[in-house]
Amino acid sequence: VPGCRLDMRTQVAIIGAGPAGLLLSQLLDLAGIESVVLERRSRAHVEGRIRAGVLEDQFQALLRKAGVAARMDAEGEIHDGFTIARSGSANDHCLRIDLAGLTGGRSVCIWGQTELTRDLFAAREAQGGAVLDEAVDVTLHDIDGDHPWVNYRRGETSGRIDCDFIAGCDGFHGISRRSIPTDRLETSERGYPFGWLGVLSETPPVSHELIYAGSSHGFALCSMRTQRLSRYYLQVPAGTDPADWPDERFWDELRARVPGKTAAALVTGPSIEKSVAPLRSFVAGPMRHGRLFLAGDAAHIVPPTGAKGLNLAGSDIHYLSEALISWYRAGNAAGLEGYSDRAMARVWKAQRFSWWMTRLLHDFPEDPLFERRLQETEFDYLAGSRSAQAVLAENYVGLPY
Ligand code: APR
Ligand code: PHB
Repeated sequence: VPGCRLDMRTQVAIIGAGPAGLLLSQLLDLAGIESVVLERRSRAHVEGRIRAGVLEDQFQALLRKAGVAARMDAEGEIHDGFTIARSGSANDHCLRIDLAGLTGGRSVCIWGQTELTRDLFAAREAQGGAVLDEAVDVTLHDIDGDHPWVNYRRGETSGRIDCDFIAGCDGFHGISRRSIPTDRLETSERGYPFGWLGVLSETPPVSHELIYAGSSHGFALCSMRTQRLSRYYLQVPAGTDPADWPDERFWDELRARVPGKTAAALVTGPSIEKSVAPLRSFVAGPMRHGRLFLAGDAAHIVPPTGAKGLNLAGSDIHYLSEALISWYRAGNAAGLEGYSDRAMARVWKAQRFSWWMTRLLHDFPEDPLFERRLQETEFDYLAGSRSAQAVLAENYVGLPY
C-alpha cells in the first residue's frame, strides 16, 4: 500500500547490522532491553560480505556471553602463534611470534566475520529480535534531547522510531557520525598510498599459521578461513583495479614476496573472490553526542595489518552494552558518561599498534633511505628481543577491556 506507515517505540534504536549493531542488540536483549536494528542493505548482502577473521580471546568471550559462539567454538581454529617474515632478498628471515608463550597462554581464534555475522543474524531471528534490513533514508533527530527518534523508509513503508538512545553502528560510510555537528567532533586521519588486494580460494592454506611477509616487492599476507579455504593479500598501489590482476599474476607475485619454502609449498587454484581494500587510519571522537553513541567502524578505521577492526567493534560494544544495562537496571549514568573515554583509550592503542605493524611490514614507495633502514632495524630488534616480541604479542591477542 503506497504511503503506509509503521511507527514504533523502542528503548535503543541501532543503526547498522554489522557485527557491532547485531552484537549490541543481542547483548541488550539478553538483559531484557528492547532494540530495533535498521540496516540499509539486504540481510543476504550483509551475510555475504568477506571481511577479516582474527578474534581476540576477550572478543571470543564476549561472543560466548552473547550466546553466539557455538559454531566458533566447534569450527574456529585457535592460533597460538604466527610468523613475521622479511623475504624477497638473498636471505629470508622468519620470526615466529609465540603468542601463547609470550602472553601467559593467550591466543586468537580464526573465525571469519562472514560466519560470525550469520550466527548473529540467526540468533536475533531465533529470539524474535527486530532487525529491519533494506531500511533506507535513515535520519536521526533530537539526539541532543531526552527523546531522540529515527526516521526510515522500507519499500513503500515509512516509519518513525521513538527511543531512549541511538547506537550508531553503521560503519565508516554511515549516517550516524555525520549527524553530529562537525564542531563537536574531532577527526584525525592518515591515508596510505597503497591498499590490499585480497583473494579467497578453495585451496588448503600454505601454512597452518598466518604469515605476515615484508619484502622489497611489498607486503603479503597468507591467511585462511578453514582447512580448505585460504585468504591471501598483496600490498598494491592505491587505486589498483582487481581486473588487472588475473589469478596467475596474483600467485606469481605472492610467491615472489613470501619466503622461499612458503612459495614452494603454495597450492594455488581459481580465486572465488578478489577485491581491493584501501588502507586508512581514522578516529572520530568523542564517540557520544547527547543520546547518540558511536561504535565500531562508524567511529574508527584501522589498517588491517594488526587485525584489529572487528575486535575494536567488540570492545566498543562491550563498554556500550554494559553502560546501557547499568543505566536501565540501576539508573546509573556513569557508564554512559564514561563510554567515549573508555572506548577511545583502547581505540587509540589499537591505532598505534596497527600503524606500527603497517609501518614495519609495508613498502612505503616515497620513503627516504633513512626510513627504510629504520624499518629493517625495527625488524632486527624484534628478532633479537623477547621483550619486543612480548609487546607485539600482547597487542595482537588484545589489550585488556
Ligand atoms: N542506514 C542503515 N544502515 C547503514 C547505513 C545507513 N545510513 N550506512 C551503513 N549501514 C550499515 C552497513 O550496510 C553495514 O551493514 O551499517 C553496517 C555497518 O557494519 P560494518 O561496516 O561491518 O561495521 P561494524 O559493525 O562497526 O563492524 C566493524 O566490520 O567493516 C568491518 O573491518 C571492519 O571488522 C570491522 C567490523
Ligand atoms: C584475514 O584473514 O582476512 C586477515 C587476517 C589477518 C589480518 C588481516 C586480515 O591482519
